[in-house]
Amino acid sequence: MTELDTPPAHLRPVEFPPGFGWGAATAAYQIEGAAAEDGRTPSIWDTYSRLPGAVIGGDTGDVACDHYHRYPEDVALVRDLGLGSYRFSVAWPRVRPDGGAVNQAGLDFYRRLVDELLGAGITPWLTLYHWDLPQTLEDAGGWTNRDTAHRFVDYARTVHDALGDRVPTITTMNEPWCSAFLGHTSGRHAPGRREGAAGLVAAHHLMLAHGLAVQALRADGATADLGITLNLTVADPHDPTDPVDHDAARRVDGLFNRVFLDPLLRGAYPEDVLADTAAMQFAGRPWSDVVHDGDLAAVSSKLDVLGVNYYNGAAYSGHPHPAPDDGGVRHPDLLSGTPFPGGEDITEPGRGLPRTGIGWEVQPEGFTRLLVRLDADYDLPPVWITENGAAYPDEVVDGRVEDHERRAYVEAHLRALHAAIEAGVDVRGYFAWSLLDNFEWSYGYGQRFGIVHVDYDTQVRTPKSSAHWYARVAASGRIEGH
Ligand code: FCB
Repeated sequence: MTELDTPPAHLRPVEFPPGFGWGAATAAYQIEGAAAEDGRTPSIWDTYSRLPGAVIGGDTGDVACDHYHRYPEDVALVRDLGLGSYRFSVAWPRVRPDGGAVNQAGLDFYRRLVDELLGAGITPWLTLYHWDLPQTLEDAGGWTNRDTAHRFVDYARTVHDALGDRVPTITTMNEPWCSAFLGHTSGRHAPGRREGAAGLVAAHHLMLAHGLAVQALRADGATADLGITLNLTVADPHDPTDPVDHDAARRVDGLFNRVFLDPLLRGAYPEDVLADTAAMQFAGRPWSDVVHDGDLAAVSSKLDVLGVNYYNGAAYSGHPHPAPDDGGVRHPDLLSGTPFPGGEDITEPGRGLPRTGIGWEVQPEGFTRLLVRLDADYDLPPVWITENGAAYPDEVVDGRVEDHERRAYVEAHLRALHAAIEAGVDVRGYFAWSLLDNFEWSYGYGQRFGIVHVDYDTQVRTPKSSAHWYARVAASGRIEGH
């Protein structure tokens, strides 16, 4: 074959390394329902979802996918798809309601779930915090209160005592960027605070909670791999010839990626982020006063694994631009406010790329670039992709869901991931987001990310055609050429 005969990369068959892991992911509040059962008390999402205008359609997680009662059926779905791993999160307000004493009934649910998974030959991957802070702790200041980090350690030890011998991977936080900056700067996520630098304060306490928990679990004799999941982006300048746009991209890279990566993997906040935010105050003092001596040593405790979630990157500008056309899916109330402290001038003009049903640009090449850059800039532990996927408006027709766009999205991103592995990045596995259609936070139930369709009236589950395709990839470890 001459070079001209070589098929384009996206059509070539690709083969993942032997032992590469395949899984699907969920999170407690998005699927469990049973919001007031067996001693669970409200989390910040129970409260936030009831605020007028906070969630499209006024949806809440009260019932969700009723996974709390249907977990055997859901585990069987994972088994039938032949996926070796299942990523789930534990609900803090079930296990330590109000952030207080241990609730055995809540803990028992996760004991049953882990038993069910192990019985089905599926490896559990546990996330301790996927955004459901007990409301009582929020009432005491939540993640802007340093004490919450210590309450998190108590909670982490409880879960580890109960499950640590049977769960081989425990991650602390899911996407602290969202908890910190969507929760406290833009207000688009619970607890819905719009307090500028409070996002930085929350970010530090989330990182501190992570670091202290890793230290505590190790002191408790943890045998599980310990890690964290970050959502990371590729921030490009909108106009590559414009220094103002370059600076906007640098600031976003700082406040999205490096504000977490540097403390975790280098034990220091990035100088440029500190300089950019030096004048920002929280409670009448510079925000960085919350960083105490010794904190960064805890935050940079050795990681056994880094979870990376990738959906898309974006181009940023420091000039005004009209909001991009995202198909109008965003609730108007959700549009207000930047998530970047001090970033009121930063805009995100679209690039004309195709968009998924939730309005997010489809940018698989960014996935390769992100992973290669992480590997070049940091001394990384083994990486797992803990989330990647797409929302599209699926329909069940004659008992089938032909979600070709989702399959194409997942295929393009798996090919981009494979390219990063070929470039030498040590990625060990991939979780599809999500196993099930579920409560998509501020978007409610209207956005469907599942590879399995959920009918919310009947709770009937229907694997989509993307699930069947993904099952074949997982079984063979390869993507066929076409
Ligand atoms: C991520 C979240 C996950 C889900 C996907 C679409 O930010 O971790 O819960 O909502 O986005």
